[in-house]
Amino acid sequence: MIKKLEKETINLISAGEVIECPADIIKELIENAIDAKAKSITLSIKNSGIDLIEIKDDGTGISKEDLPLTIERHATSKLEKIDDLYSIETFGFRGEALSSINTVSKLKIQSSDNEDGIGYILENNSIKEIPFSRGTTIIVRDLFYNIPVRKKFLRSLFTEFSKIYNTFLEFVLLNPDIKFQFISEKKNEIFPRTTSVGRYIQVFGKDIVSKTITLNIENKIFKLSGILCKPTNYFYFPNNFLYINKRPVFSPQINKQITDAYKDYLMIQQKPFFVLFFDLDSKSLDINVHPKKRTIRIQNEFVFISQLKEELNKIFSNQEIPELKNTTTISSFLENSETVNNQQSYYFENNSPAQLQDKIENFRYKPIISVLPQKELMLNNQKIKSILGQILNTFIVCEIEEGMMLIDQHAAEERINLEKNREYFSDYVKVQNLIVPTELINLDLETKEFILNNQPLFKNLGFIIQEDNDKIYLITIPEFLERYFTIDFFYEIIKDIEENPKEKLDKIKDKILKLKSCKESIKANDPLSISQMINLIKQLEECKDKAICAHGRPTMLIYNKKELEKMFKRIV
Ligand SMILES: Nc1ncnc2c1ncn2[C@@H]1O[C@H](COP(=O)(O)OP(=O)(O)OP(=O)(O)O)[C@@H](O)[C@H]1O
Ligand SMILES: [Mg+2]
Repeated sequence: MIKKLEKETINLISAGEVIECPADIIKELIENAIDAKAKSITLSIKNSGIDLIEIKDDGTGISKEDLPLTIERHATSKLEKIDDLYSIETFGFRGEALSSINTVSKLKIQSSDNEDGIGYILENNSIKEIPFSRGTTIIVRDLFYNIPVRKKFLRSLFTEFSKIYNTFLEFVLLNPDIKFQFISEKKNEIFPRTTSVGRYIQVFGKDIVSKTITLNIENKIFKLSGILCKPTNYFYFPNNFLYINKRPVFSPQINKQITDAYKDYLMIQQKPFFVLFFDLDSKSLDINVHPKKRTIRIQNEFVFISQLKEELNKIFSNQEIPELKNTTTISSFLENSETVNNQQSYYFENNSPAQLQDKIENFRYKPIISVLPQKELMLNNQKIKSILGQILNTFIVCEIEEGMMLIDQHAAEERINLEKNREYFSDYVKVQNLIVPTELINLDLETKEFILNNQPLFKNLGFIIQEDNDKIYLITIPEFLERYFTIDFFYEIIKDIEENPKEKLDKIKDKILKLKSCKESIKANDPLSISQMINLIKQLEECKDKAICAHGRPTMLIYNKKELEKMFKRIV
């Protein structure tokens, strides 16, 4: 049943630019077919989708009454109230794809929701009965016929075709239980229903699949399945495929982690191939970040990325890789040992396996040796000889040449985040519409007045504010805050600006960045795994001002031999 969203909700949902190129249409139409539980989807295109895109499915179909609603803005059968957004399982929820497509092309919808062989066609705002079997066919002709400028800015036909085909493959890989067919002047393919491995073979061929590692991982942060090219068996494939909770997504951070894991095996220009499906608790995700729903925000991304890194290390250490041959004794030791705990020490010296083995035997905690010790770990010109662990779930304890180093994990990550955040942030603040404009409540009169009088200042910071019937709403936030934003955070910013009215814009921006960096960092009392500690130290080492946190407190303390001896009154 299609229902019109309440008027209030309509105003709350920002329209956004949904259709920029033919591949965007393919994405929306395939998503609709999958949402309609289709078991067979056929895509036909002509002239890279510019002359024709036709998608035929055997899904639930659309009733005669609902047909005109499909092209109305913000009419959807998938979302009734805004709260449902947080548990949405369908691809669609905004009710704007078909209406957007209708405004930029000549759209025809044929559909039947019954087994009687009777269907309806919607064209030029009129509906006619036609013989039709259950399912829907959407026909899109003359894309951008009414927006010549848009058409001019399309890339070459070849590029548009590649984008279409890649989008198509994204869904083919995601749904092995759906039959897909692709029809075009250049390429005609059928992918019958199969298993996930069967689908990999249909899409990439046996040869490529035999050069990959099949993943099936589950840990406390995510489930991960898919395929990953073997580090020693490089091959080229133009695209990678990444999914989070069954949605195709972009994530430069995840791509980087994977590329980093291969960096000892591949040459710089070689990109590792992968098809990865992550499953995370949906509460830790925000899918409403972008109208195309391609960007997903993961809360506690640092923890997620560290865990991913740890899993990749495990996978790589289990591979028969010539470069790592000299660590086989260590690897086998690793396999036989207990899981990591904080008492165990990680050495980073260039020991031979025999020497390491010796150390293991003589070490009373029976340490597990990291498989990566060949790499030197430095921090602030100090060579970290070993990480002894974490105390009070707050400080990392390391042995260095001079003595001992303590690292405050929160201060360290705050510094790392601040420098990263400054990088993203330039003079121009890109804004992001909040999908639900938020009413600013419980403001005292003075603050309310302050906000309304300083609207241009807030706008410059990326916060657009609107007054409506005596109520104040926050409409946008700076894009760089989207992952983290909470309304309390905004109240803190208001308070801060109110208390320091003379501060320059740049200074306020930096304050926001500092506040953000602090909020998104690991806290004291968070237990860390060894690889998270290593990761933290590595990232801190890359910072410009590594010795102090965003608020000017130290990130690390060193106790050298002399100081320790003094404290113990060995010397005076
Ligand atoms: N192939 C299809 N089969 C059955 N119903 C469909 C199909 N395509 C569209 N619909 C119906 O038309 C409505 C509008 O589709 P549209 O894609 O515009 O919005 P949506 O999928 O609800 O949200 P979004 O804009 O996020 O994609 C859908 O809610 C659905 O009820
Ligand atoms: Mg849709």
